[in-house]
Amino acid sequence: MTAEGLEGVVVAETRLSDVDGERGRLVIRGHDVEELAERADFEAACVLLWTGELPRQIAHADVRGPIAHADVRGANAHEDMRRELGRARVRAFARLPALGDAFETGDGMEALRAALSHLRASEIPESRLGTELTAAVAVFAAAWARKLRGSVPVAPDPELGHAADYLRMASSHGSDPARSRALDAYLVTAMDHGMNASTFTARVVASTDSDTVSAVVAALGALKGPRHGGAPGPVLAMLDAIGEPGHAAAWIAAELAAGRRIMGMGHRVYRVRDPRAAVLERAVERLRATGLRSDRLDLARAVERVAVASLGERRPERRMAANVEFYTAVLLDAIGLPQELFSPTFAVARVAGWLAHIAEQRESSRIIRPSSHYVGPPPETHAAA
Ligand code: COA
Repeated sequence: MTAEGLEGVVVAETRLSDVDGERGRLVIRGHDVEELAERADFEAACVLLWTGELPRQIAHADVRGPIAHADVRGANAHEDMRRELGRARVRAFARLPALGDAFETGDGMEALRAALSHLRASEIPESRLGTELTAAVAVFAAAWARKLRGSVPVAPDPELGHAADYLRMASSHGSDPARSRALDAYLVTAMDHGMNASTFTARVVASTDSDTVSAVVAALGALKGPRHGGAPGPVLAMLDAIGEPGHAAAWIAAELAAGRRIMGMGHRVYRVRDPRAAVLERAVERLRATGLRSDRLDLARAVERVAVASLGERRPERRMAANVEFYTAVLLDAIGLPQELFSPTFAVARVAGWLAHIAEQRESSRIIRPSSHYVGPPPETHAAA
């Protein structure tokens, strides 16, 4: 019996996250994703993911300067993470001149893969591997995007929170508190999600006792694919191609008739709407309430309704609904990130999850090595001469 696509196969026990596909629930280290995205910024969620403790937050990501309430219990962990990530962003920026031709490509995931490959795990103290890699993904992605548009990279501001600083470095619109908070909501929502393809890849590499940089680079390769992290760019292109709600039904019918998939729809595990879609949809709504225009939100909602209905008619036995990528596209667009940065920004978030899984995998001494069922020809029988 083969388990095609390893569907339903349990390959690890994990304390990190749990995906309930029937009920549409995602729990990250004991916290529902909706609650976590509400309470935690990226730094706090990293502390949770990497240590199991959600620290008290003492300042939001966009607040500068000394932390006012460092005596609050647990606040130091948040402050330390913020400081460490800030310093690591500065160090990552200093590496840019040594990255050779890594950014000579129009594909951000290719650029990230090449740039991260320059890091050497043996040269980074073990205790700093997490923050160095997490910071490097953000700094390299932002620098590549600047270069693509013919401008010079913007140096990090270590005083800022990770989300605010990434937005400042990557977007030509800079950052502001409302957009930084929306990006924080995205980063927290997207940072971990059970045994997804890139996380599995990271764990396979870690199980061979290979180094953490190699595991992260391999995971990035898996994330790059359009069936995984490559979907939000095409979702935005789809919304643009549809243009207005009234055109959605005909457009989707034509795509399905041509045998193409509707991006941002369907999921291996969820049989209901991905809970992360709702978190991101709410974050965009909040942005709108602050006065930011997002014309695409109403269009996206209309397209979602039509797509769910059309897919349901075609495959009533396999319920398909919007996945995280659908509203990722709307949110990242609303905060001013260009489409070519959508997948790299997914990596900015998910690297935190990979690192947690790599560390957890290292607790096991067994290599991940499944079996295959041979269906090729039998060995030729050579008649003795
Ligand atoms: N649009 C149209 N049809 C879809 C579809 C979509 N988005 N997603 C799945 N299907 C169909 C497939 O064509 C297949 O039909 P078939 O049996 O007639 O060939 C069937 O549903 C099962 O697809 P399968 O690829 O086996 O499902 P999966 O569970 O392995 O795949 C995804 C899950 C996410 C890869 C898949 O739903 C997809 O490609 N979605 C679009 C890309 C996307 O949004 N990715 C981001 C994921 S977070």
